[in-house]
Amino acid sequence: MGEMIIEGGRPLLGCARIQGSKNAALPMMAAAILHEGEVALHNCPRIADVFSMERILQSLGAETCWEDHTLRISCRNLRGYEIDREDAASMRSSVMLMGSLLGRQGRVRIAHPGGCTIGARPIDLHLGVFRAMGAVVEEQGEMLEARTGGELFGTRICFPISSVGATENGILAAVKARGTTLLENCALEPEITHLCHFLQAMGAEIGGIGTRKLRIRGVRILRDVRFAVPPDRIVAGTYLYAAAATRGKVTLSDAPVEEISSILRVYEKMGGQWEYNGGKLIADASGVERMVKYTRTQCYPGFPTDMQSVLMAVLLTIPGKGRIREEIFEDRLKTAGELKKLGGQIHTAGRDAWITGGEPLTGARVEARDLRGGAALAVAALAASGTTVIGNAGFVERGYEAIDADLTALGGRIRRIP
Ligand code: EPZ
Repeated sequence: MGEMIIEGGRPLLGCARIQGSKNAALPMMAAAILHEGEVALHNCPRIADVFSMERILQSLGAETCWEDHTLRISCRNLRGYEIDREDAASMRSSVMLMGSLLGRQGRVRIAHPGGCTIGARPIDLHLGVFRAMGAVVEEQGEMLEARTGGELFGTRICFPISSVGATENGILAAVKARGTTLLENCALEPEITHLCHFLQAMGAEIGGIGTRKLRIRGVRILRDVRFAVPPDRIVAGTYLYAAAATRGKVTLSDAPVEEISSILRVYEKMGGQWEYNGGKLIADASGVERMVKYTRTQCYPGFPTDMQSVLMAVLLTIPGKGRIREEIFEDRLKTAGELKKLGGQIHTAGRDAWITGGEPLTGARVEARDLRGGAALAVAALAASGTTVIGNAGFVERGYEAIDADLTALGGRIRRIP
């Protein structure tokens, strides 16, 4: 997985461009299966999870090719419905393929998905959608087999809790189902809206986009489309908070400011300043000095769980006592153990982390345990004096296309060792 070596202790001063969104691109790639033609995704992030999804599509008979950051996918000759066990287990997003393969092939065989170890991450809501739409779903150990009697049927589904992936799978299954599907209590994350706009551009009929109630009328034919993957709100938040941790001044172009209001609100509470000018987020974090006493992660538009460990890293640099509560995933505080190796004063119990900020952070060897936790370690390392070595750096590259180059452009001193 390799290592990242970071020399910390000085403010970030520089500019970087925000990459395309991992969590928007992955369901769009799964959606390509629904169309017996070609889609082109511009601004597609060249990250490990996208390459894994590309390999899975190729194994099903799709043809793909890259031109810089444009990924072309043709599923004209798609034949397969079985996902390689290792590929399926390599990331959570493989579960998205169930909805689109059932919609296209009427059948799918896949292992339980993998992804960051941040909790149990069941897929009962996903399977419930397929069963409600007429599919027979069998679980044999870690393997899942689902099939329709020829097609899925539109129906009304009300999700008991807000789930990004289950909402996305419901949409993918409904696009070519017979009749109309009503999905209620849908998640509101922007990636769902982006998926709906992508599918609409392909000819899908979706109403209620951006609300908790989506109405999808099944269609038979979709069309070729070229679509730009929107920028990644979590990458933008990560770099903004890296500036906050080092009291720096950064300019982030293509930052999706309208999608990171909750992240900006917490940044302002710390004393951070920002403006949005000509498509650029210009942040002056030199005045960051106020501890944020309580933050809890929530579904969108609340403070995102994907920013929880990054926020923890920033709070370690601010004198005072703060508390973070992780409401979404039951086991997403483990990065605290690694941050303590840098001198961080953190106490965790259950879903809560209590931070005593202001103690000096000193470089050390730490291990990334998941994607966003690894990014949080990089943020803390930039604020720490001396050298930090982050092991398992490959975790970070699942979602950040060039975090070393980006942080270098922002003024950080970071090296990647394969
Ligand atoms: C998506 O995961 C994102 N991943 C996650 O980002 C993100 O943290 C999460 O949404 C929450 O915003 C992708 O989009 C690829 P959920 P997902 O279904 O869909 C429970 C990252 O770092 N649940 O919204 O898996 C679940 O256990 C990743 O980019 C069920 O109980 O999240 C959790 O407690 C990490 N049954 C809650 O719902 C189900 O069938 C929300 O999970 C599904 C979910």
